[in-house]
Amino acid sequence: MIDIEGVKTTLLEQVANSESPRDVLKASELRSLYAHIGQLEPQERSAFGKKVNEVKVALEAAVDERVAQLETATVIPLDITAPWAPNTEAPSLLPTQYGTKHPLMKELEKVVDIFTRMGFEAIESRQIDDDYHMFGTLNFPEDHPARDGYDTFRTEEGFIPPAHTSTMQHRILKDGKKKLESGGQIAAVSYGRVFRNEDVDATHEHTFYQCEGVFVSKTATLGDMLGTLRSFFETYYGQKLRIKTQPAYFPFTEPGLEFAIEKPATIGGKPGEWLEMLGCGMIHPNVLEEAGIDPTQYQGFAWGGGIERLVMLKYGIEDLRHFESARLAFLRKFTS
Ligand code: DAH
Repeated sequence: MIDIEGVKTTLLEQVANSESPRDVLKASELRSLYAHIGQLEPQERSAFGKKVNEVKVALEAAVDERVAQLETATVIPLDITAPWAPNTEAPSLLPTQYGTKHPLMKELEKVVDIFTRMGFEAIESRQIDDDYHMFGTLNFPEDHPARDGYDTFRTEEGFIPPAHTSTMQHRILKDGKKKLESGGQIAAVSYGRVFRNEDVDATHEHTFYQCEGVFVSKTATLGDMLGTLRSFFETYYGQKLRIKTQPAYFPFTEPGLEFAIEKPATIGGKPGEWLEMLGCGMIHPNVLEEAGIDPTQYQGFAWGGGIERLVMLKYGIEDLRHFESARLAFLRKFTS
């Protein structure tokens, strides 16, 4: 004869100590009680069956109680600040690849580095500005057609995402005034993103990077400017270069020039193949005056040019759109 009370006690004990009490309901002891019913004489079955059922009901109640108890049990807090045990194996993470700096940022850093080593202070340019800094401080008369050449975006409030880094000139000049008055000079570059409302193609993007340079002293000359620019380009491309200028019009320069270099033979250039790299010139007296600098005492030069063009020439990149394409095959060429 099966000790039905004994089985009940054992199973109840198991439930009380189990971490997964429902499993006890599937325990073989309970199954064997059911199996036993079939082996009994017909007249004994009903009484035994009733008892088995009582065991089952008691067990189910105990299971419910244990489940509730487990759910409300105090959770041991996990100390996420605890130091990593040095001998513990590192958790296996999903395979990953290290990101790298974007090629444009890497090259921009090289450009800025060359100028800082030449004694220029480096300032990041703003990404939102106003009409006064975009045009007013730069001697663009109101309603002058030269304004149209810059394809500027405007916010509803009239702010301007700058179309050139020259928007920083006035700030550089105003801040540098004290340096001039104490016998020093202004030497700064400003670099950053600029925006133009242009149709995108292989050589035009609505968003690109420029670097602007400003130098002011009592004696600055156009010759100093050409020397500075030549020295920059020769350092960046790591070789001697031929340079050329031609007159250009910018309201904020007098005179204004376009500056070109001869495409080096090392990157497939032929003699006489000139590449226009930037705009430059002597700072217009009105621009100095607007910043409170007396143009009869001080003179300066400034330049501004695109970063993408520099980089494309250096690496033989044929399409400007690659830079913002997020194409890994392109970006991975610059991971070293
Ligand atoms: N801001 C001009 C452009 O984006 C380039 C430029 C020309 C900058 C002459 C200057 C300058 O500082 O003096 O086309």
